[in-house]
Amino acid sequence: MKQEMMTIVSQKQLAPRIFELVLSGQLVQEMKTPGQFLHIKVPRADLLLRRPISLSQINQEKGECTIIYRVEGDGTKVFSEMSPGELLDVMGPLGNGFSYDFLEKDQVAFVIGGGIGIPPMMELSKRLTAQGVKVIHFLGYASKEVMYYQEEFMAQGECRFSTDDGTYGIHGNVGNLLLDAVQEIAPDAVYACGANGMLKMVDQLFPDHPNAYLSLESRMACGMGACYACVKHLQDDETGSKSVKVCDEGPVFPTGKVVL
Ligand code: FAD
Ligand code: FES
Repeated sequence: MKQEMMTIVSQKQLAPRIFELVLSGQLVQEMKTPGQFLHIKVPRADLLLRRPISLSQINQEKGECTIIYRVEGDGTKVFSEMSPGELLDVMGPLGNGFSYDFLEKDQVAFVIGGGIGIPPMMELSKRLTAQGVKVIHFLGYASKEVMYYQEEFMAQGECRFSTDDGTYGIHGNVGNLLLDAVQEIAPDAVYACGANGMLKMVDQLFPDHPNAYLSLESRMACGMGACYACVKHLQDDETGSKSVKVCDEGPVFPTGKVVL
């Protein structure tokens, strides 16, 4: 983990409140694993805590990385008002990302993303496809209006879409898509990132799968294992005293491990 003032190369609005930001800097050479995140300082003196945002794409040849974020509060609002050429204080890459290099050509991976849990799946999907893995994406959004990156994911493999209001894909959520899919396909690996309810469903569908992974969200402060702001309890702990830190032991965990 290192820290650098990275340069904003471009900033583009993809959908209402959703922005894509491309950053350049030496730090990109450290960014190896999809699912890792950056801890970004908001350039406003009263906002002390850094904001964790997942790496969405890594381009080491160009020395650039891409993040996609939704404006939630003051911090992400400040990010959305920044322009190319401005600098962001970035710490990272942080956390443990997705394991994928054990998969072989023609094996099948389910890549599951919901809402703002979709961005880290882009780099993962590209790596899997490059390895010859057959990727089936399950992507859920609130509505057609807030969809982004459909074409980018479709370029990587089969995509099944859902929207909460039925304006695109099936009417419902990713869980509905998955319930159908598991009747016909037994995936060799499963990867999911999104709202807690969706992660719970994936956890219950694949509790003992040897290669099923969930990327968790948690409120964070230090981002590097020092403050315990991000702890989650373990499932196989009757005493309720054992916990993991999402920032440095995660954010990616195997299914069946963490209480969601
Ligand atoms: P704040 O003013 O801090 O909060 C606004 C609202 O958002 C509040 O209701 C608050 O409860 C809620 N909120 C803030 N942080 C979180 C959080 N970590 N989890 C759940 N709710 C939160 N967001 C993206 O848009 N794109 C990403 O790729 C992305 N990756 C993430 C990766 C990790 C490992 C984690 C932990 C979070 C990630 N997030 C991502 C969430 C992002 O960090 C928060 O949305 C952001 O910090 C909000 O900052 P803010 O100042 O705009 O809002
Ligand atoms: Fe400080 Fe995880 S955010 S320990």
